[in-house]
Amino acid sequence: MDKPVDVVVMAAGKGTRMKSKTPKVLHRLGGRALAGHVIDTAARVCARQVVVITGHGAAEVEAVLASHASAERHFGVRNLADGVTATTPPALRFVRQEPQLGTGHAVQQALPVLADDGITLVLSGDVPLTEAATLQALLNVCAGRHLALLTLTMPDPTGYGRIVRNDDGEVLAIVEHKDATDVQRQITEIYSGIMAVPTALLRGWLGRLDNRNAQAEYYLTDVVKFAVADGCSVRAHRIADAVQVAGVNSPLQLAELERAHQRRLAEQLMTQGVRLADPARFDLRGSLACGTDVDIDINAVFDGTVVLGNGVRIGANCCIANVVIADGAVIHPYTHIDGEKLGVTVGAGALVGPFARLRPGADLGPEVHIGNFVEVKNSTLAAGAKANHLAYLGDATVGERVNYGAGSITANYDGANKHRTVIEADVHVGSNCVLVAPVTIGAGGTVGGGSTITKSTPPGALSVARGKQVSLGGWSRPVKKIK
Ligand code: UD1
Ligand code: MG
Repeated sequence: MDKPVDVVVMAAGKGTRMKSKTPKVLHRLGGRALAGHVIDTAARVCARQVVVITGHGAAEVEAVLASHASAERHFGVRNLADGVTATTPPALRFVRQEPQLGTGHAVQQALPVLADDGITLVLSGDVPLTEAATLQALLNVCAGRHLALLTLTMPDPTGYGRIVRNDDGEVLAIVEHKDATDVQRQITEIYSGIMAVPTALLRGWLGRLDNRNAQAEYYLTDVVKFAVADGCSVRAHRIADAVQVAGVNSPLQLAELERAHQRRLAEQLMTQGVRLADPARFDLRGSLACGTDVDIDINAVFDGTVVLGNGVRIGANCCIANVVIADGAVIHPYTHIDGEKLGVTVGAGALVGPFARLRPGADLGPEVHIGNFVEVKNSTLAAGAKANHLAYLGDATVGERVNYGAGSITANYDGANKHRTVIEADVHVGSNCVLVAPVTIGAGGTVGGGSTITKSTPPGALSVARGKQVSLGGWSRPVKKIK
């Protein structure tokens, strides 16, 4: 009974109401392209392939979705002809629709790559938050032989296609808002843009479409009336969750859906025991894994891959991306962390911020302290090292218990190449020092405040490199001339 499923994602439209150069399906929700959400969900129903119809901004849409799919690693790169089965990841492929003559015309372009033994599941690239379980339920309603439509009752159905039923409740047609009569516009059950249909039947119906309607487009929704005429049963699978069928057509709808999405993510985390000071002021644009007793204050933005250990506290107004933060560490307010590709690690019990910046390759050991206006890049700080104020550590290896003074910097770049600074264990670097790399400060040594260190220093020594202090007695300051 189980027929193979081919997913078709319509993503060729312009999205005029977004008023943007970016193709609509590439606008971001929760840090991912709208159509990225759709293909991620498609990959979770056991499909043998996902066919994306592109048109407006096709090259850009294809590039973004192909790289998204390979990063998520849930798509195979095979063709249907290679005999992909439901247990292997679906193949992702693109088919162009040029020009764009409507949703029916869009699906027509996919027909050459759809085999008649399957079910076609049609999704819209601008409807991002449908759940895989909902699609699976729709496929069950289709049962390999019916036309199954995902529908919803909406208080304000303006703009949507309406589900027209007869007195027995059987679906007769979908009528687009622009083509609907006043009576039909009273109907509150709408078509979501999502259907599951036996491919062999779909092929026949698509061949019968015309564009004699208010928009002079080939409507996919017209297949319903052909199904009825052919005696094929049309079954509406009506759900109650509007977020799952909400489409994005304007910046306002995008922002509203973003909040709905964030609310759901926040609820999932709180269900796991994460304490969010305010779920309405929380943003997750990547993945966030949390241990127990994690506290997150307001306006934290998480991006990329973030792991927070047990008891981690995140202060207000932090931007945190691509980092692993170990148990008990505290990130104080207004801290910016982005490990990008190299990643950042923060050791157990470390204190970071307020106003700190951790850049790629910052690797902080346990109990390290990084204070306000301190920037760390590609540097390792061993247990207990401290840089509490106004400092820069770039390409540095910092030993245990080092104290790195306010205003000190590693001069790691000579204008052409980067060089390493090594500060061995228990060194004390005074305030306002410049350590010109490559240079090593020997263990237990002290660097006098205001020193510019260009040569390595021996262990245990006091190193001072600055103009000697001179005091001239009886000095009188210049006075202003009176004319
Ligand atoms: C469509 C449905 C409508 C439904 C609504 C739900 C039709 C005729 N109407 O209307 O019944 O209530 O979705 O959101 O199907 N697209 C193409 N090529 C085209 C035209 C559109 O790929 O030539 C893509 C768009 O990029 C978009 C999707 O199809 O991802 C839907 O197109 P859109 O123009 O938004 O259709 P609606 O008017 O919203
Ligand atoms: Mg739409």
